[in-house]
Amino acid sequence: MHPDLESILFDEETIQSKVRELGQQLTEDYRGKNPLFICILKGATLFMADLVKRVEVPMEMDFMAISSYGTSSKSSGVVRILKDLDRSIEGRHVVIVEDIVDTGLTLKYLRETLMHRHAASVKIVSLFDKPSGRKVDIAPDYYGFTVPNAFIVGYGLDYAEQYRNLPVVGVLKSDIYATSDTD
Ligand code: XMP
Ligand code: MG
Repeated sequence: MHPDLESILFDEETIQSKVRELGQQLTEDYRGKNPLFICILKGATLFMADLVKRVEVPMEMDFMAISSYGTSSKSSGVVRILKDLDRSIEGRHVVIVEDIVDTGLTLKYLRETLMHRHAASVKIVSLFDKPSGRKVDIAPDYYGFTVPNAFIVGYGLDYAEQYRNLPVVGVLKSDIYATSDTD
């Protein structure tokens, strides 16, 4: 186990089998729709790469970067687009690919923004859902795992840009995690 982790919540095999399952579900739901999968940078990159390999229908990919965090670990509610989509999504069936839904503020902003651009539909797939952190009443349409109210890292998820490369997802040790900005 990585020395900075307190525990491992999901090992590689558990993550990969869940991603396969989500891919099969999306394959059934998006047949004939040529969906546009939008990866939210940077946290969802590993999930996106593994997921699209399991979506066995013609589809396209795009990428969007937003900033939603005042500090490295707490949502500020302020969402800003850092990198926008390359193309129009008018009339497209959009699938937003997220790493984790916590407060829900990012998701709410994204769903509204993309609907305003006249997408045919906007759905969200998030690998992780942290319902205990919710500040707005919103939920991902598809999700992999529910996680407890702890700061998790690995498989794309970072703390201060570190740990994204871990193939597992775990809870950071408390002496590394800055407790000063939690509420
Ligand atoms: P909200 O709160 O708007 O935020 O739903 C979603 C984004 O917050 C980040 N986030 C986390 N990142 N471990 C992380 O590495 C966590 O436990 C965690 N909780 C929220 C993440 O970037 C997500 O896209
Ligand atoms: Mg992040």
